[in-house]
Amino acid sequence: MVREVREEPGGATGTSGTYPAGDEEDVALKDGTAVHLRPIRGADEAGLLALYDRLSPESLYFRFFSVPQKDTGKAAYLTHVDYDRRYAVVAETAGAIVGVARWERLADRPGHAEVAFTVADDVQGRGLGGILFRRLAALARARGITVFEAEVLKNNERMLRVFERTGLPTATRDQGNILTILLTLDPPAPPPA
Ligand SMILES: CC(C)(COP(=O)(O)OP(=O)(O)OC[C@H]1O[C@@H](n2cnc3c(N)ncnc32)[C@H](O)[C@@H]1OP(=O)(O)O)[C@@H](O)C(=O)NCCC(=O)NCCS
Repeated sequence: MVREVREEPGGATGTSGTYPAGDEEDVALKDGTAVHLRPIRGADEAGLLALYDRLSPESLYFRFFSVPQKDTGKAAYLTHVDYDRRYAVVAETAGAIVGVARWERLADRPGHAEVAFTVADDVQGRGLGGILFRRLAALARARGITVFEAEVLKNNERMLRVFERTGLPTATRDQGNILTILLTLDPPAPPPA
């Protein structure tokens, strides 16, 4: 089974919604490195391709289940989102994109969204995967998404660890070397009194 969020050719046409500037946030990694989190935008095509260019074959394989060729058309699709049906958050340090996390709602269950995460190899293991998960989950929950679904290779211990560390209720479907993980998101925090 192939889903658009896994960025295979032939997905739906890209689109652009109004940029949600209020969704930007500054965070710090475990080692203190400052990271700016913000919604993706059309102008990020080159930055996103640069991130994928510097990914190791192992990381590309974990992300795409293959080692894809550079595809500028696909980069345009990935950077043009409507911030509701499809949404992506990028993480920047020193002006470079070092991570991206995205959701895509399932057509038959819009309260469920398939998610995928990528962190540059030299930044992995410093907490960014967990930070991106929490950010994506908060933005998704505020838009009525209640369940994240992720397809993960069984030996992708880092991704599995990030999901485990969320502490969220989880169900797992075993499909050979791929696991489908379903995570039930916390309800949004109530507004301050
Ligand atoms: C999966 C990925 C997004 C996680 O991002 P990250 O920034 O490395 O994640 P974090 O640093 O927040 O957490 C990684 C966890 O895995 C642990 N870890 C690191 N290497 C590990 C290994 N070989 N085995 C088991 N756990 C490992 C880390 O210690 C950390 O756990 P901790 O918080 O308990 O210390 C990133 O590694 C990545 O982009 N991988 C390639 C693409 C990919 O696999 N995408 C997922 C497809 S959905």
